[in-house]
Amino acid sequence: MLYRVLFVCLGNICRSPLAQAAFEHAATQAGLDVEVDSAGTRGWHEGKAPDKRSISVARQNGIDISAQRARVLTKSDFAQFDQVIAMDTNNLAAIHKLAPLGHRARVALLLDHVAGQEGQGVDDPWHGRAAAFERTWEEVSLGARGLVTFLQSR
Ligand code: 4NP
Repeated sequence: MLYRVLFVCLGNICRSPLAQAAFEHAATQAGLDVEVDSAGTRGWHEGKAPDKRSISVARQNGIDISAQRARVLTKSDFAQFDQVIAMDTNNLAAIHKLAPLGHRARVALLLDHVAGQEGQGVDDPWHGRAAAFERTWEEVSLGARGLVTFLQSR
């Protein structure tokens, strides 16, 4: 079975590129067949590589995300992906607003897959220092492992 998962944040340069990388890693370790991508609800950074602080924290954890390029979420993503996973509640609202009527994709928050953190968002590290990005990596990794467990349990 192939799982097609899209991670969504605001700018697609800080959180969702890390979530994509963490999930791809966790899914591969678990032997899941996945197709992953990430997108932003806003197109401000379209075509750009991830923020250098995200590239750096991913590299510290053994993953190269520098080839990722930011793009904006589109209506066709709701047919292209089975799971559309939001980083925070603002992203979630924007996703629901764009979603075509009758779409089949499951929309959820990443941290809905972490016991005790349901309904919570991954904080935006954009204005933070390197430590904020380390925290983001921890959060998206926890969420990614939870999402893998969720997909395996269905
Ligand atoms: P992201 O972080 O949504 O995790 O990619 C942000 C990146 C850029 C901006 C805001 C958040 N910005 O305002 O440009």
